[in-house]
Amino acid sequence: MIQLAPSILSADFSNLLEDIKQVERAGAHLLHIDVMDGHFVPNISIGPLIVESLEGKTTIPFDVHLMIENADQYVEKFSTSNTKFITVHAEACVHLNRTIQVIKSLGHKVGVSLNPSTPIDCLDYVWNEIDMVLIMSVNPGFGGQSFIPDMFTKISDVKRVIDSRGLNIDIEVDGGIKLDNVREVINAGANVIVAGSAIFGAKDVYENTNRFLEAMK
Ligand code: DX5
Ligand code: ZN
Repeated sequence: MIQLAPSILSADFSNLLEDIKQVERAGAHLLHIDVMDGHFVPNISIGPLIVESLEGKTTIPFDVHLMIENADQYVEKFSTSNTKFITVHAEACVHLNRTIQVIKSLGHKVGVSLNPSTPIDCLDYVWNEIDMVLIMSVNPGFGGQSFIPDMFTKISDVKRVIDSRGLNIDIEVDGGIKLDNVREVINAGANVIVAGSAIFGAKDVYENTNRFLEAMK
C-alpha cells in the first residue's frame, strides 16, 4: 500500500497540533517525526518530550526517524501508544542487530535507514529482521534540500533485493520529495513517501496533503 508520511520537521512548532490536525483531516497515513541529536547529524530537532506530548492527541500512527547515536539508550522514550515504526540509521548503530531486537521487543515495526552514500549490502544480514528500509534521498539533517537523483537507482536496487528474497518490506524515501517528482519516486519502487517542506512549508497544509495524496494515486 502506498502511504504518505508528512514530516513535521517543517511544521509550525508554535502551532504543532493544529498543523498535525490538518494532515490527519486530509487522510495522511503516518506522521513522520525527525529526531536529530546534533552528533550523527548537524542539527538538533524534536526530542522525546514533544513525542510524548503528542501521544493520544492524533489518530495518525507515528513514524519515528531517529537520526541519533546510542539509539538503544533512547528508543524506549519514543515508544508511545501512537508509535508504529521506529527507524534507526545503519551508520549510527554499532550493533545494528541488537538495536533491531530492542525496537521489536517494544512491539514496534523496525525501519533501518541508509544515508545517500551508504551501500545497501549493509542490510544483507538483517533483511529477515526488518519491516522497512528508509532510503535517504538527501543528506539527513535539514528539510528543504534537493532530491539526489542517484537515489532513483538505489530505490530500484532495494526493491529488486526485497522482491528476489520474497520479503514484505516497505520502502520509504525521505528528502526532497515534491509534487513534481513523487510519481517518479513511486515508480522506482517506493511505497512510503515522506514530505516535509512540500506539505508544511507553505500555507494550506490540508490542501498540500490532499494534492500529494492525489498525485500518489
Ligand atoms: C531530513 C529529514 C526529512 C526532512 C524532509 O533529515 O529526515 O524527513 O524533514 O524534508 P523535505 O521534504 O523538506 O526534504
Ligand atoms: Zn526523516
